[in-house]
Amino acid sequence: MTLDDLATLRQEAERSLERVHDLESLQAWDRDVIGAKGSLTAFLRGLGKASPEDRPALGRAANDVKTALVTAFDARKAELQSAALDARLATDAVDVTLPGRKPTIGVDHPVSQMIRELSDIFALMGFQTAFGPEVETGHYNFDLLNIPSDHPARDVWDTMIVDTPNSEIVLRTHTSPMQARVMEKTTPPVRVIVPGRVYRYEAQDASHEWMFHQLEGLAVDERITLADLKGVLREMARQLFGPNRRIRFRCDFFPFVEPGVDFAVDCMICNGAGCRVCKQTGWLEMGGAGMVHPSVLEGVGYDSEKYTGFAFGLGIDRIVMQRYGINDVRAFAGNDLRFLQQFAVASR
Ligand code: PHE
Repeated sequence: MTLDDLATLRQEAERSLERVHDLESLQAWDRDVIGAKGSLTAFLRGLGKASPEDRPALGRAANDVKTALVTAFDARKAELQSAALDARLATDAVDVTLPGRKPTIGVDHPVSQMIRELSDIFALMGFQTAFGPEVETGHYNFDLLNIPSDHPARDVWDTMIVDTPNSEIVLRTHTSPMQARVMEKTTPPVRVIVPGRVYRYEAQDASHEWMFHQLEGLAVDERITLADLKGVLREMARQLFGPNRRIRFRCDFFPFVEPGVDFAVDCMICNGAGCRVCKQTGWLEMGGAGMVHPSVLEGVGYDSEKYTGFAFGLGIDRIVMQRYGINDVRAFAGNDLRFLQQFAVASR
Protein backbone atom coordinates (compact mmCIF):
# COMPACT_ATOMS: atom_id res chain seq x y z
CA MET A 1 0.00 0.00 0.00
CA THR A 2 1.95 2.96 -1.35
CA LEU A 3 1.44 6.41 -2.83
CA ASP A 4 2.08 4.79 -6.21
CA ASP A 5 -0.79 2.39 -5.67
CA LEU A 6 -2.98 5.38 -4.91
CA ALA A 7 -1.83 7.19 -8.02
CA THR A 8 -2.62 4.16 -10.16
CA LEU A 9 -6.04 3.81 -8.55
CA ARG A 10 -6.78 7.45 -9.24
CA GLN A 11 -5.61 7.23 -12.83
CA GLU A 12 -7.72 4.18 -13.55
CA ALA A 13 -10.74 5.72 -11.88
CA GLU A 14 -10.41 8.92 -13.89
CA ARG A 15 -9.97 7.04 -17.14
CA SER A 16 -12.99 4.89 -16.61
CA LEU A 17 -15.02 7.94 -15.65
CA GLU A 18 -14.16 9.40 -19.05
CA ARG A 19 -15.66 6.31 -20.69
CA VAL A 20 -18.94 6.78 -18.84
CA HIS A 21 -21.58 8.07 -21.26
CA ASP A 22 -24.86 7.42 -19.53
CA LEU A 23 -26.33 7.51 -16.06
CA GLU A 24 -26.42 3.76 -15.73
CA SER A 25 -22.71 3.25 -16.24
CA LEU A 26 -22.09 6.24 -13.97
CA GLN A 27 -23.89 4.40 -11.24
CA ALA A 28 -21.70 1.37 -11.85
CA TRP A 29 -18.60 3.57 -11.65
CA ASP A 30 -19.82 5.01 -8.35
CA ARG A 31 -20.28 1.50 -7.00
CA ASP A 32 -16.85 0.33 -8.21
CA VAL A 33 -14.83 3.33 -7.00
CA ILE A 34 -16.28 5.51 -4.27
CA GLY A 35 -19.18 3.35 -3.11
CA ALA A 36 -19.13 1.30 0.10
CA LYS A 37 -17.44 -1.59 -1.72
CA GLY A 38 -15.46 0.57 -4.16
CA SER A 39 -11.70 0.46 -4.69
CA LEU A 40 -11.00 3.84 -3.06
CA THR A 41 -13.08 2.97 -0.04
CA ALA A 42 -11.13 -0.28 0.28
CA PHE A 43 -7.92 1.71 0.12
CA LEU A 44 -9.07 4.06 2.88
CA ARG A 45 -10.14 1.14 5.02
CA GLY A 46 -6.74 -0.47 4.53
CA LEU A 47 -4.92 2.56 5.92
CA GLY A 48 -4.93 1.03 9.38
CA LYS A 49 -2.49 -1.58 8.16
CA ALA A 50 0.03 0.97 6.87
CA SER A 51 3.09 1.70 8.98
CA PRO A 52 2.63 4.54 11.50
CA GLU A 53 5.18 6.77 9.74
CA ASP A 54 3.54 6.39 6.25
CA ARG A 55 0.01 6.64 7.50
CA PRO A 56 -0.45 10.46 7.78
CA ALA A 57 0.85 11.18 4.28
CA LEU A 58 -1.06 8.26 2.75
CA GLY A 59 -4.22 9.30 4.56
CA ARG A 60 -4.01 12.90 3.41
CA ALA A 61 -3.29 11.86 -0.16
CA ALA A 62 -6.16 9.35 -0.16
CA ASN A 63 -8.58 11.96 1.14
CA ASP A 64 -7.49 14.39 -1.57
CA VAL A 65 -8.05 11.69 -4.19
CA LYS A 66 -11.47 11.06 -2.75
CA THR A 67 -12.41 14.76 -2.91
CA ALA A 68 -11.17 14.95 -6.49
CA LEU A 69 -13.04 11.83 -7.58
CA VAL A 70 -16.27 12.82 -5.85
CA THR A 71 -16.10 16.25 -7.49
CA ALA A 72 -15.44 14.68 -10.87
CA PHE A 73 -18.34 12.27 -10.29
CA ASP A 74 -20.74 15.10 -9.40
CA ALA A 75 -19.72 17.10 -12.45
CA ARG A 76 -20.16 14.10 -14.75
CA LYS A 77 -23.51 13.35 -13.23
CA ALA A 78 -24.78 16.90 -13.79
CA GLU A 79 -23.54 16.75 -17.38
CA LEU A 80 -25.24 13.45 -18.14
CA GLN A 81 -28.49 14.50 -16.50
CA SER A 82 -28.77 17.64 -18.56
CA ALA A 83 -27.87 15.71 -21.71
CA ALA A 84 -30.64 13.22 -20.96
CA LEU A 85 -33.11 16.05 -20.41
CA ASP A 86 -32.08 17.69 -23.66
CA ALA A 87 -32.58 14.46 -25.53
CA ARG A 88 -36.03 14.00 -24.04
CA LEU A 89 -37.04 17.56 -24.82
CA ALA A 90 -35.86 17.12 -28.38
CA THR A 91 -37.96 14.02 -28.99
CA ASP A 92 -41.00 15.36 -27.13
CA ALA A 93 -40.81 18.69 -28.87
CA VAL A 94 -44.15 20.10 -29.96
CA ASP A 95 -44.11 22.54 -32.82
CA VAL A 96 -46.62 25.04 -31.51
CA THR A 97 -46.66 26.87 -34.83
CA LEU A 98 -48.23 23.91 -36.66
CA PRO A 99 -51.97 24.24 -37.31
CA GLY A 100 -54.05 21.91 -35.12
CA ARG A 101 -55.37 18.63 -36.43
CA LYS A 102 -59.13 18.57 -36.56
CA PRO A 103 -60.52 15.36 -35.10
CA THR A 104 -62.96 13.68 -37.47
CA ILE A 105 -66.08 12.87 -35.54
CA GLY A 106 -68.37 10.20 -36.92
CA VAL A 107 -72.04 10.91 -37.37
CA ASP A 108 -75.05 8.73 -38.03
CA HIS A 109 -75.76 7.55 -41.55
CA PRO A 110 -78.72 9.44 -43.04
CA VAL A 111 -80.80 6.25 -42.89
CA SER A 112 -79.96 5.83 -39.19
CA GLN A 113 -80.90 9.46 -38.61
CA MET A 114 -84.26 8.79 -40.22
CA ILE A 115 -84.79 5.65 -38.14
CA ARG A 116 -84.24 7.68 -35.00
CA GLU A 117 -86.60 10.40 -36.18
CA LEU A 118 -89.30 7.85 -37.00
CA SER A 119 -88.82 6.14 -33.62
CA ASP A 120 -89.36 9.49 -31.91
CA ILE A 121 -92.48 10.19 -33.93
CA PHE A 122 -94.00 6.79 -33.18
CA ALA A 123 -92.95 6.91 -29.53
CA LEU A 124 -95.21 9.95 -29.13
CA MET A 125 -98.09 7.78 -30.39
CA GLY A 126 -97.29 5.02 -27.90
CA PHE A 127 -95.24 2.71 -30.12
CA GLN A 128 -92.17 0.95 -28.81
CA THR A 129 -89.23 0.35 -31.12
CA ALA A 130 -88.03 -3.25 -31.46
CA PHE A 131 -85.31 -4.84 -33.56
CA GLY A 132 -85.31 -8.34 -35.00
CA PRO A 133 -82.98 -10.81 -36.69
CA GLU A 134 -81.96 -10.21 -40.29
CA VAL A 135 -81.41 -13.92 -40.79
CA GLU A 136 -84.83 -15.51 -40.49
CA THR A 137 -86.53 -18.84 -40.79
CA GLY A 138 -89.13 -19.51 -43.45
CA HIS A 139 -91.49 -20.08 -40.53
CA TYR A 140 -91.41 -16.42 -39.49
CA ASN A 141 -90.67 -14.83 -42.85
CA PHE A 142 -93.51 -16.71 -44.57
CA ASP A 143 -95.52 -19.38 -42.73
CA LEU A 144 -96.76 -17.28 -39.82
CA LEU A 145 -97.56 -14.51 -42.30
CA ASN A 146 -100.08 -16.73 -44.03
CA ILE A 147 -97.77 -17.53 -46.94
CA PRO A 148 -97.60 -21.36 -47.02
CA SER A 149 -94.77 -23.09 -48.91
CA ASP A 150 -96.91 -24.03 -51.86
CA HIS A 151 -98.33 -20.54 -52.19
CA PRO A 152 -97.22 -18.63 -55.29
CA ALA A 153 -96.89 -15.48 -53.16
CA ARG A 154 -93.78 -17.04 -51.66
CA ASP A 155 -92.02 -16.54 -54.97
CA VAL A 156 -92.66 -12.82 -55.30
CA TRP A 157 -90.28 -11.91 -52.49
CA ASP A 158 -87.06 -12.66 -54.43
CA THR A 159 -85.72 -14.39 -51.36
CA MET A 160 -82.04 -14.84 -50.65
CA ILE A 161 -81.56 -18.24 -49.06
CA VAL A 162 -78.75 -18.70 -46.56
CA ASP A 163 -78.89 -22.42 -45.93
CA THR A 164 -80.79 -24.97 -47.91
CA PRO A 165 -81.28 -28.67 -47.53
CA ASN A 166 -84.04 -29.24 -44.99
CA SER A 167 -84.24 -25.99 -43.11
CA GLU A 168 -85.27 -22.83 -44.86
CA ILE A 169 -82.97 -20.09 -43.56
CA VAL A 170 -83.36 -16.82 -45.39
CA LEU A 171 -82.32 -13.19 -45.25
CA ARG A 172 -85.58 -11.59 -44.22
CA THR A 173 -87.35 -10.16 -47.24
CA HIS A 174 -89.34 -7.72 -45.10
CA THR A 175 -89.64 -6.66 -41.47
CA SER A 176 -93.03 -8.38 -41.20
CA PRO A 177 -91.64 -11.56 -39.56
CA MET A 178 -91.27 -9.44 -36.43
CA GLN A 179 -95.06 -9.17 -36.25
CA ALA A 180 -95.26 -12.79 -35.11
CA ARG A 181 -92.10 -12.61 -32.99
CA VAL A 182 -93.47 -9.64 -31.06
CA MET A 183 -96.97 -11.05 -30.67
CA GLU A 184 -95.65 -14.39 -29.43
CA LYS A 185 -94.00 -12.57 -26.54
CA THR A 186 -96.77 -10.08 -25.78
CA THR A 187 -100.37 -10.08 -24.70
CA PRO A 188 -102.41 -7.29 -26.31
CA PRO A 189 -102.40 -4.36 -26.47
CA VAL A 190 -99.44 -4.36 -28.84
CA ARG A 191 -97.97 -1.17 -30.29
CA VAL A 192 -94.60 -1.61 -31.85
CA ILE A 193 -92.46 -0.45 -34.75
CA VAL A 194 -89.55 -2.44 -36.18
CA PRO A 195 -87.00 -0.62 -38.29
CA GLY A 196 -84.27 -2.60 -39.99
CA ARG A 197 -82.53 -4.04 -43.02
CA VAL A 198 -84.27 -6.32 -45.46
CA TYR A 199 -82.90 -8.22 -48.43
CA ARG A 200 -84.18 -9.14 -51.85
CA TYR A 201 -82.54 -10.76 -54.81
CA GLU A 202 -83.02 -7.96 -57.28
CA ALA A 203 -81.17 -6.30 -60.10
CA GLN A 204 -79.77 -3.05 -58.77
CA ASP A 205 -80.69 0.26 -60.29
CA ALA A 206 -81.27 3.82 -59.12
CA SER A 207 -84.37 2.81 -57.17
CA HIS A 208 -83.59 -0.82 -56.26
CA GLU A 209 -81.00 -2.22 -53.89
CA TRP A 210 -80.61 -5.82 -52.78
CA MET A 211 -80.48 -4.49 -49.23
CA PHE A 212 -82.75 -1.70 -48.07
CA HIS A 213 -84.60 -0.57 -44.97
CA GLN A 214 -88.16 -0.99 -43.87
CA LEU A 215 -90.12 0.12 -40.87
CA GLU A 216 -92.81 -2.26 -39.74
CA GLY A 217 -95.68 -1.03 -37.63
CA LEU A 218 -98.07 -3.21 -35.66
CA ALA A 219 -100.95 -2.38 -33.34
CA VAL A 220 -103.23 -5.06 -31.90
CA ASP A 221 -106.00 -4.42 -29.42
CA GLU A 222 -109.76 -4.67 -29.05
CA ARG A 223 -111.63 -2.60 -31.63
CA ILE A 224 -108.70 -1.44 -33.75
CA THR A 225 -109.93 -0.34 -37.17
CA LEU A 226 -108.61 0.83 -40.51
CA ALA A 227 -109.36 4.38 -39.35
CA ASP A 228 -106.73 3.99 -36.60
CA LEU A 229 -104.22 2.92 -39.24
CA LYS A 230 -104.99 5.92 -41.38
CA GLY A 231 -104.79 8.29 -38.42
CA VAL A 232 -101.41 6.93 -37.30
CA LEU A 233 -99.94 7.12 -40.80
CA ARG A 234 -101.29 10.59 -41.35
CA GLU A 235 -99.81 11.80 -38.09
CA MET A 236 -96.48 10.28 -39.11
CA ALA A 237 -96.65 12.05 -42.48
CA ARG A 238 -97.44 15.38 -40.83
CA GLN A 239 -94.57 15.05 -38.38
CA LEU A 240 -92.24 14.14 -41.22
CA PHE A 241 -93.36 16.42 -44.02
CA GLY A 242 -95.49 19.18 -42.52
CA PRO A 243 -99.00 19.82 -41.16
CA ASN A 244 -101.00 19.64 -44.40
CA ARG A 245 -100.12 16.13 -45.50
CA ARG A 246 -102.81 13.65 -46.49
CA ILE A 247 -102.69 9.86 -46.79
CA ARG A 248 -104.07 7.89 -49.71
CA PHE A 249 -105.11 4.23 -49.45
CA ARG A 250 -105.55 2.02 -52.51
CA CYS A 251 -106.52 -1.63 -52.54
CA ASP A 252 -103.58 -4.00 -52.60
CA PHE A 253 -102.93 -7.60 -51.67
CA PHE A 254 -100.66 -9.03 -49.03
CA PRO A 255 -101.45 -12.51 -47.67
CA PHE A 256 -101.04 -11.33 -44.06
CA VAL A 257 -103.57 -8.50 -44.13
CA GLU A 258 -107.25 -8.28 -44.97
CA PRO A 259 -108.14 -5.82 -46.31
CA GLY A 260 -104.77 -4.77 -47.70
CA VAL A 261 -103.76 -1.39 -49.05
CA ASP A 262 -100.83 0.46 -50.43
CA PHE A 263 -100.43 3.89 -48.97
CA ALA A 264 -99.02 7.15 -50.25
CA VAL A 265 -98.52 10.68 -48.93
CA ASP A 266 -99.42 13.69 -51.02
CA CYS A 267 -96.30 15.34 -52.36
CA MET A 268 -95.00 18.04 -50.03
CA ILE A 269 -93.28 19.86 -52.88
CA CYS A 270 -96.35 20.50 -55.05
CA ASN A 271 -99.11 19.77 -52.51
CA GLY A 272 -100.43 17.06 -54.79
CA ALA A 273 -100.56 19.09 -57.98
CA GLY A 274 -97.83 17.07 -59.68
CA CYS A 275 -94.15 17.85 -60.03
CA ARG A 276 -90.77 16.30 -60.77
CA VAL A 277 -90.32 14.81 -57.29
CA CYS A 278 -93.63 12.91 -57.38
CA LYS A 279 -93.24 12.18 -61.10
CA GLN A 280 -96.36 14.26 -61.86
CA THR A 281 -98.60 11.95 -59.82
CA GLY A 282 -99.07 14.21 -56.79
CA TRP A 283 -98.39 11.20 -54.51
CA LEU A 284 -95.34 9.60 -52.95
CA GLU A 285 -95.59 5.83 -52.49
CA MET A 286 -94.72 4.81 -48.93
CA GLY A 287 -95.48 1.09 -48.56
CA GLY A 288 -98.06 -1.55 -47.83
CA ALA A 289 -100.50 -1.88 -44.96
CA GLY A 290 -103.78 -3.37 -43.83
CA MET A 291 -105.71 -5.08 -41.07
CA VAL A 292 -103.82 -8.03 -39.61
CA HIS A 293 -105.23 -11.22 -41.14
CA PRO A 294 -107.18 -13.38 -38.66
CA SER A 295 -104.96 -16.38 -39.45
CA VAL A 296 -101.88 -14.38 -38.49
CA LEU A 297 -103.50 -13.57 -35.13
CA GLU A 298 -104.57 -17.18 -34.64
CA GLY A 299 -101.12 -18.38 -35.66
CA VAL A 300 -99.59 -16.76 -32.59
CA GLY A 301 -102.45 -17.82 -30.33
CA TYR A 302 -104.45 -14.59 -30.30
CA ASP A 303 -108.24 -14.77 -30.28
CA SER A 304 -109.16 -13.16 -33.59
CA GLU A 305 -112.76 -12.73 -32.41
CA LYS A 306 -111.59 -10.51 -29.60
CA TYR A 307 -108.62 -8.73 -31.12
CA THR A 308 -108.04 -6.87 -34.31
CA GLY A 309 -104.98 -5.00 -35.47
CA PHE A 310 -103.33 -3.07 -38.23
CA ALA A 311 -99.89 -3.50 -39.72
CA PHE A 312 -97.87 -1.46 -42.16
CA GLY A 313 -94.46 -1.59 -43.75
CA LEU A 314 -92.82 1.47 -45.21
CA GLY A 315 -89.61 2.02 -47.12
CA ILE A 316 -87.18 4.14 -45.10
CA ASP A 317 -84.60 4.74 -47.83
CA ARG A 318 -87.18 6.31 -50.08
CA ILE A 319 -88.24 8.80 -47.40
CA VAL A 320 -84.63 9.90 -46.94
CA MET A 321 -84.25 10.23 -50.72
CA GLN A 322 -87.31 12.45 -50.91
CA ARG A 323 -86.23 14.59 -48.00
CA TYR A 324 -82.78 15.34 -49.42
CA GLY A 325 -83.49 15.04 -53.14
CA ILE A 326 -81.24 11.99 -53.53
CA ASN A 327 -81.92 10.32 -56.85
CA ASP A 328 -79.98 7.07 -56.51
CA VAL A 329 -80.58 4.60 -53.69
CA ARG A 330 -77.18 2.99 -54.32
CA ALA A 331 -75.51 6.05 -52.77
CA PHE A 332 -76.58 4.89 -49.29
CA ALA A 333 -74.42 1.77 -49.22
CA GLY A 334 -71.85 3.05 -51.73
CA ASN A 335 -69.58 4.19 -48.90
CA ASP A 336 -68.50 7.37 -50.66
CA LEU A 337 -67.51 9.76 -47.87
CA ARG A 338 -68.14 12.80 -50.07
CA PHE A 339 -71.78 11.74 -50.19
CA LEU A 340 -72.09 10.78 -46.53
CA GLN A 341 -70.30 13.83 -45.14
CA GLN A 342 -73.04 16.06 -46.48
CA PHE A 343 -75.30 14.68 -43.77
CA ALA A 344 -72.88 15.35 -40.94
CA VAL A 345 -74.37 18.78 -40.29
CA ALA A 346 -77.89 17.46 -40.35
CA SER A 347 -77.47 15.33 -37.23
CA ARG A 348 -75.77 17.86 -34.98
N1 PHE B 1 -94.15 -6.62 -45.74
C1 PHE B 1 -94.74 -5.93 -46.85
C2 PHE B 1 -93.67 -5.69 -47.91
O1 PHE B 1 -92.52 -5.88 -47.67
C3 PHE B 1 -95.34 -4.61 -46.45
C4 PHE B 1 -96.47 -4.75 -45.53
C5 PHE B 1 -96.29 -4.73 -44.18
C6 PHE B 1 -97.78 -4.90 -46.03
C7 PHE B 1 -97.33 -4.86 -43.30
C8 PHE B 1 -98.82 -5.03 -45.18
C9 PHE B 1 -98.61 -5.00 -43.83
O2 PHE B 1 -93.97 -5.28 -49.00
